[in-house]
Amino acid sequence: MVISNKQCDVTLRRMQAHLEKRYPQAIDLPEWEGFAIRLKETFPTLLNELLTIYGHHFDFYYHLERLLETMADAWLERTPEWKSIDVMREADPSWYQSGHLIGAMAYVDLFADDLLNLQAKIPYLKELGVTYLHLMPIYKSPEGDDDGGYAVSSYREVDPKLGTIEDLRNTAAEFRSQGISIVLDFVFNHTSDEHEWAKKAREGDETYQGYYLMFDSRDEALEYEVNLRSIFPDERPGSFTYMNRLKKWVWTTFHTYQWDLNYRNPEVFNAMAEEMLFLANVGVEVLRMDAVPFVWKQKGTNCENLPEAHTLIRAFNAIARIVAPSMVFKSEAIVAPDEIQKYMGTDECQISYNPLMMALLWESLATRSAKLLRHSLAKRFAVPEGCAWVNYVRSHDDIGWGFDNHDALDVGIDPHGHRKFLTDFYVGRHESSFARGELFQEDPTTGDARVCGTTASLCGLEKALAENDPEEIELAVRRILLIHGVTFTIGGIPLIYLGEEIGMLNDHSYREDLDKEGDARWLHRTPFDWKKAEERTEDDTLEKTLHTGFLKLVQMRLNNAALARGETEIVDPGNEHVLGYFRTTSEQSILCLANFSDQPQVVPAPRLRQLGLKKVLVDIIAGQTIVAAKQLEMEPLQFMVLLRQGG
Ligand code: GLC
Repeated sequence: MVISNKQCDVTLRRMQAHLEKRYPQAIDLPEWEGFAIRLKETFPTLLNELLTIYGHHFDFYYHLERLLETMADAWLERTPEWKSIDVMREADPSWYQSGHLIGAMAYVDLFADDLLNLQAKIPYLKELGVTYLHLMPIYKSPEGDDDGGYAVSSYREVDPKLGTIEDLRNTAAEFRSQGISIVLDFVFNHTSDEHEWAKKAREGDETYQGYYLMFDSRDEALEYEVNLRSIFPDERPGSFTYMNRLKKWVWTTFHTYQWDLNYRNPEVFNAMAEEMLFLANVGVEVLRMDAVPFVWKQKGTNCENLPEAHTLIRAFNAIARIVAPSMVFKSEAIVAPDEIQKYMGTDECQISYNPLMMALLWESLATRSAKLLRHSLAKRFAVPEGCAWVNYVRSHDDIGWGFDNHDALDVGIDPHGHRKFLTDFYVGRHESSFARGELFQEDPTTGDARVCGTTASLCGLEKALAENDPEEIELAVRRILLIHGVTFTIGGIPLIYLGEEIGMLNDHSYREDLDKEGDARWLHRTPFDWKKAEERTEDDTLEKTLHTGFLKLVQMRLNNAALARGETEIVDPGNEHVLGYFRTTSEQSILCLANFSDQPQVVPAPRLRQLGLKKVLVDIIAGQTIVAAKQLEMEPLQFMVLLRQGG
């Protein structure tokens, strides 16, 4: 449904009048004007996005009015401090692109036991340069298996083992005052089956049944299911769960206890907008939009990445920009490369995980070749204006081989065989493998499989230590620093999975825990080893080598404008084992080179000259001046950050 500017103005005036009448004291507040200006500016976007989805509802304007009340209520509840940060961020809307952000993620319980203790870990985080901290879901969730917290029973309550909502507010405030932005999840595709809404639905309340997607017969569900991908095929095939008390099939994309929300219902959108604003007011600066591709369903499609999913996110984004403009969205779209960037935009998700680069960094380590990585990045690294990648090598999830088939074919790789090779490689089934990972969700029908394991174990440290092989230990350390060398310098926000910086190995004990044994992702969700972390201060320890390597990357990023916020250009250094890219600002140009081979490699001097570099270069990682007369020599798995003498 399209609406004219005039109709939009009339609607806005009606809404403004409604708010002014409802909140007579608010309009006298000095800061009301800021809210009113943002409302005026962003209302046309919000209205149009909502009309696209809900315009055909006879009570559209009723829901719109309720939504605006929710927004005004949330804004009124926002603390003066957050309101002032909002104003600051409005003046610097792309603060997340500034290069000062260095990300880390952790489970509160595994890293620090609980929220109070987490505050005590601030010095450790500051030492590492962390300015962005993603706390894995800390909300109330079912006892036992809760998909690592992604089955949310209440967005307004904290898991009592971790603390209270007040503790969370205080933690966010404390982190903010120390310059660390808190990142929390907005798990908006589903709730747990113990959420109040789900409980009422189960008791037969039709209003709340309308919050979810329920079908009376298996056949009705099958009409959708024939086109759907199974997310956890090994553990739980299919996307529906039978509720025998209700005699209904409930849409459950992920686990049986995670019920998908029905966004065709405008009440659901409004209710979730309220939850989102609640989180904004707790002190979230980056909202991780969980499982974005799945939020809209349409019969006859695979129900992933549909245009309406984008419309919904843009509507949420418009609401956030009006009420809490200091909060930005991070997209979690672990989908085909062509789809990932579509979620990025200042009006949608300002930042996004970069799962393609993540998968291809591992691909390059396994093949010892950068050709697919280089080819894919050259085509796909650019992001829309005002957006940034979150570059990571491991998250709490599995690794899927999500490269594009055409990209692979372009460089002479058979995509299907290659995916199988990579899985075999990382679970240690290939003769050239250094990795110790585990299989995740092997799909017997498609042969697809994913991989789990910590960065260190996948980089060869576990195997090398078990075999007590000093050379292999050295190579494993280099691999860790090489791939993070890329995440820290290629452009975007680097993200450390806490524990990577001290080489945490796989934790096999999950197999003994009934709530975890079915989910190999717990292999790499290891309790943080603080004793091991202490070793970073002792000479000649592995932990010190790694930790110092990370600190160097942090310092380099903070001290070089081009690494922090330069343009990125992927180049061909004339050696397929080596990835090369320039980072450039008007003042500085830096060439980064990453040798993915465990053999020495050379970059031919004529190629360096073609790239505009002179014979003498400074590698700020090794802290050395290099003369590349005939060629530039690189050690096995070496990462170089090259500056010209004289800038
Ligand atoms: C996201 C999370 C993953 C979870 C899923 C369902 O993909 O990263 O851990 O299982 O959403 O919420």
